[in-house]
Amino acid sequence: MITLKDVKKDEEVKVLIKTSEKQIDALAYTEHSVRHASIVASWTGMILKEIGESAKLVRLGEIAGYLHDIGNSLARYDHSGSGAILAYNVLKRMGMNYADAAEIMMAIGNHDEKNGVPVSVLTSALIIADKSDVHKSRVRDKVLDKNTNIHDRVNLAVNRSFISVDKENLRIDTVIETDDTICSVADYFEIYHSRMLMCSKAAELLGYKYGLVINNMRML
Ligand SMILES: [Fe+2]
Ligand SMILES: [Fe+2]
Repeated sequence: MITLKDVKKDEEVKVLIKTSEKQIDALAYTEHSVRHASIVASWTGMILKEIGESAKLVRLGEIAGYLHDIGNSLARYDHSGSGAILAYNVLKRMGMNYADAAEIMMAIGNHDEKNGVPVSVLTSALIIADKSDVHKSRVRDKVLDKNTNIHDRVNLAVNRSFISVDKENLRIDTVIETDDTICSVADYFEIYHSRMLMCSKAAELLGYKYGLVINNMRML
């Protein structure tokens, strides 16, 4: 049985994540390192556990979360498709059975809002986990000035983000605490509109409603 711990220790995975980081650095995008991979792994597993999925799916979800951005090692363009194939091959080489590796491949291949669709429970949990990781630590240049782009400004404003699963009311919320002197809620909506739509569809597949709570105010 392959676990997240095994995947984290794997030399090929370490190289692919390092190479992804190198490419993202060169493109000056927000952080996509082991930090993001680990948070998405843990949140994907948490969502699946909280909604009552099997221990096996939780384990596959953690692995999918950790590997979801390794396609950035090839190129940012279609990193979900390339990452899916890379992950499938790595997991097969590690001894995972074809069906489980393919389940993870499908989730990774659909995690990006540009071309992805929440086609399975695992995919949906991965999408919500990935899109909820907004945080100031993801911004490289922490100096805020007139040249700071809207993506960096929105991320810089976020002091904390987490996911809340409310089983009673069937709600999954992304909860964000921001410094509203740095960015407005409108800025957040401007850049994350498509991500929020994707999260809504993902939650729907799980039988839940998706919500966004910013500074204790429900936006969605
Ligand atoms: Fe991604
Ligand atoms: Fe990601």
